[in-house]
Amino acid sequence: MKAEARAPMFTPQPIGFVSSPFKNSAEIPKGLGARHEAEGVLNILPAYDLGLTGIEGYSHLMVIWVFDRSDGFDLLVTPPSDIRPHGIFSTRSPRRPNPIGLTVVELLGREGGALRVRGVDMLDGTPILDIKPYLSSIPQEKLRRGWLAEAEARKK
Ligand SMILES: C[S@@+](CC[C@H](N)C(=O)[O-])C[C@H]1O[C@@H](n2cnc3c(N)ncnc32)[C@H](O)[C@@H]1O
Repeated sequence: MKAEARAPMFTPQPIGFVSSPFKNSAEIPKGLGARHEAEGVLNILPAYDLGLTGIEGYSHLMVIWVFDRSDGFDLLVTPPSDIRPHGIFSTRSPRRPNPIGLTVVELLGREGGALRVRGVDMLDGTPILDIKPYLSSIPQEKLRRGWLAEAEARKK
């Protein structure tokens, strides 16, 4: 691949930072059956305050963020939820070519630029790149859960 093809298409700037109860990765639930119920705050920078207009109307948000404390990547990984290796793009591993995380959280309330949410799986201080409303329109019967469904079935 040519160097210019790898050059960033834009320079990501945080719109805010996560306040999370998790100070290190070991504290975050992982593996099969892990539930993400922890509460945290998305602290959005004052410059973006106007952009939060209307956000209170949504129950859930998609938070796009940076794995700022991970390094490098492998194309095949064995995630905590399985004993078999899988392609990086079929996992949610923090070590990826572009270290971008995506978490769906429940919006509990808003105080100015502070969005109180449930369901954080990010470390404290994680930079936030974007927030979008969560609108799932995929019927349950159309969803396939890939290797994760197989790993869950093997565990039973
Ligand atoms: C499996 S990833 C999933 C994250 C997100 N839900 C996703 O799918 O992109 C969650 C793990 O990322 C790691 N993590 C969380 N915040 C991080 C950060 N700021 N930098 C590096 N790793 C982080 C923790 O080990 C956490 O358990």
